[in-house]
Amino acid sequence: MTQDTALLPKSLVAGDEPVPARKVFVKTYGCQMNVYDSDRMSDALSRDGYVATDVVEDADFVLLNTCHIREKAAEKVYSELGRLRELKKAKASEGREMVIGVAGCVAQAEGNEILRRAPAVDLVIGPQTYHRLPEALKRARSGERVVETDYAIEDKFEHLPAPDKVKTRARGVTAFLTVQEGCDKFCAFCVVPYTRGAEVSRPVAQIVAEAEKLVDGGVREITLLGQNVNAWHGTGPDGGDWGLGDLLRRLGEIDGLARLRYTTSHPRDMDESLIEAHRSMTKLMPYLHLPIQSGSDRILKAMNRRHTAAEYLALVERIRRAQPDLALSGDFIVGFPGETEADFEDTMRLVEAVGYAQAFSFKYSSRPGTPGADLKDQVPEDVKAKRLERLQFLLINQQRDFAASCVGREIDLLLEKPGRMPGQLVGRSPWLQPVNVDAKRSQIGDIIRVRITRAGPNSLFAEVIE
Ligand code: SAH
Ligand code: SF4
Ligand code: F3S
Repeated sequence: MTQDTALLPKSLVAGDEPVPARKVFVKTYGCQMNVYDSDRMSDALSRDGYVATDVVEDADFVLLNTCHIREKAAEKVYSELGRLRELKKAKASEGREMVIGVAGCVAQAEGNEILRRAPAVDLVIGPQTYHRLPEALKRARSGERVVETDYAIEDKFEHLPAPDKVKTRARGVTAFLTVQEGCDKFCAFCVVPYTRGAEVSRPVAQIVAEAEKLVDGGVREITLLGQNVNAWHGTGPDGGDWGLGDLLRRLGEIDGLARLRYTTSHPRDMDESLIEAHRSMTKLMPYLHLPIQSGSDRILKAMNRRHTAAEYLALVERIRRAQPDLALSGDFIVGFPGETEADFEDTMRLVEAVGYAQAFSFKYSSRPGTPGADLKDQVPEDVKAKRLERLQFLLINQQRDFAASCVGREIDLLLEKPGRMPGQLVGRSPWLQPVNVDAKRSQIGDIIRVRITRAGPNSLFAEVIE
């Protein structure tokens, strides 16, 4: 990223000689919500004169925005911290300072424990306290080891800067917007209710204002984010109760905003008004991430998902009736405690019945503090591995079949960024697949009509329809 002193506060520009700005390197793990949070934290730090860098060796402040969802995700953070410790030492020997911070869900879950396990860490900050980051960083720079993981009473979104025009332009034509955070569902395997806290919905006016700012900065497609995005609720300008369907309709009125998406949805919160939005809103993309985790009623119950496989299938049918072009994606966990071969076969059957365009599947990972961790009948690793392999084989085939079924179709393509080959751009299909097409750089942000000509393993190829 280039350094632009015009963006710095005056206090950092002494005389004619600009003082070099401090640099921050942010590495993001986990879900899209962390991507959104990382940008907001970078924005907050830029008010204090920090500029972003992609080169970790150049950074005065290294911030890891972490994920706690599975053991592997959390362990990755500690191995990264080990590497950073060496870098910090090397820099210190040259008389250069490097502050190391840990944000995100590992920070929230482990707090002080991180300082103990990783002595190079100066600062630990949880997701509900990001608006305090600039102040916490000042304290860390003066030598204090800071842990900020209390749930803040003040609304962090009110105190974090909204995206500005210049940065939005640099970030591209698609953007995330967190509308809901936290979770009250307490699935037996999941850390999110503990790391992100209780469900909170942002108010309509705040969301609309942020969306308008993004569009003003050139954004054409917004993905609304929430751990349970379809549990979002608020009060409309008319004083009435609003659900996500109403919010989508309101955002659909913003001129210049061409596409809307939302993720992640819980099957229990798909209400009629949201399904109606899929029926009637052309700006709402026909794509839905609707995780079920398992196809076995017994396991769904043990997971505390609070619905059956049949209810899920009936819901899918209702949504597909409203939007026949809908592509579905999902998440699956294999090897939840007590899962038998027969339970797993139920999952395979459910996948066959639904037909996913895309999916994410994981081996169950026991997380400290969740009810699942205390259950007997933990499934052996090799059994989990075998089941995962079978499930992924099926899911990948479904993804390929879906991609193949797109060949020959004419679609609207939002051009996002340069492709791998010169003269090519990559865009996204309505179903979130990357699509390569010959187009000029100046067309980034345009929506063009194309015909899909070929399906590769991870992306589609298309030609422009004159
Ligand atoms: N709110 C979303 C899920 C968020 S976590 C929902 O309810 O569907 C993203 C995915 O990670 C989950 O859907 C699940 O498939 C996976 N996951 C969560 N906890 C896990 C664990 N302990 N072990 C393995 N996978 C897990
Ligand atoms: Fe986790 Fe369940 Fe909440 Fe999703 S709904 S975030 S899986 S507890
Ligand atoms: Fe991971 Fe936290 Fe997201 S645990 S998946 S970063 S909410």
